[in-house]
Amino acid sequence: MPCNPEHRTVPAPQYRVSGEEALERTRAFRELMGTRRSFRQFSDRPVPFQLIRNAIATAATAPSGANQQPWRFVVLSDPGIKRRFRQAIETEEYEFYHSRASQEWLEALKPIGTDWRKPFMEVAPYLIVVFEVHKGPNSTRPYFAKESVGIAVGFLLASLHQAGLATLTHTTSPMGWVNELLGRPREERPFLVIPVGYPAEWATVPDIRRKPLEEVMVHLDGW
Ligand SMILES: Cc1cc2nc3c(=O)[nH]c(=O)nc-3n(C[C@H](O)[C@H](O)[C@H](O)COP(=O)(O)O)c2cc1C
Repeated sequence: MPCNPEHRTVPAPQYRVSGEEALERTRAFRELMGTRRSFRQFSDRPVPFQLIRNAIATAATAPSGANQQPWRFVVLSDPGIKRRFRQAIETEEYEFYHSRASQEWLEALKPIGTDWRKPFMEVAPYLIVVFEVHKGPNSTRPYFAKESVGIAVGFLLASLHQAGLATLTHTTSPMGWVNELLGRPREERPFLVIPVGYPAEWATVPDIRRKPLEEVMVHLDGW
């Protein structure tokens, strides 16, 4: 007998994966995700909108604090709005690279090779602007909104990657102008901008290293 009448349950989904199959699936998924990179050079080749829709629908299955799903995904594809978006972001980024960024920050960015220019914001067929929604039910603030939106973006990136699409997780601060440009309400706070498209045929990526598993995983076994 449930003691809380608002707590209703339904049968849990059945996963049923054998040990061998599970091992193979995790290996294959690791291999697939191991090839994901951030792209800054995109093709303007059209991308079927259904791929974007499916990826956002996947993102929306993510877990969230108290199931408040504090996310909004605004998709831009119109060349005019993408151009205005690029212009606005480049204005901010110019300020960042020429005065706002600390020397340390600029040093950290050197291996990535970024600068204030963001042509990909216009070339990529889609920009997905991810917002963190700051108003939950009864106007309360959602619980753990950032964590929840971050996980949803992970799902989104994984879905787009396995469709052979290139993405870039792009931030810029301050992003207050985004709401005005896109006519979004105040309770939606810009979180990330994700250009999506096929990679340019001539694309290159920074030669970076990922930390070895031994460095990022600590297995506290045998206590
Ligand atoms: C939260 C976050 C913010 C990022 N912001 C930017 C950004 O503003 N501009 C950019 O070019 N890359 C940005 N990146 C991409 C990182 O530079 C990139 O993920 C990192 O160098 C690792 O490369 P990889 O994604 O190819 O593995 C961001 C990534 C994350 C996760």
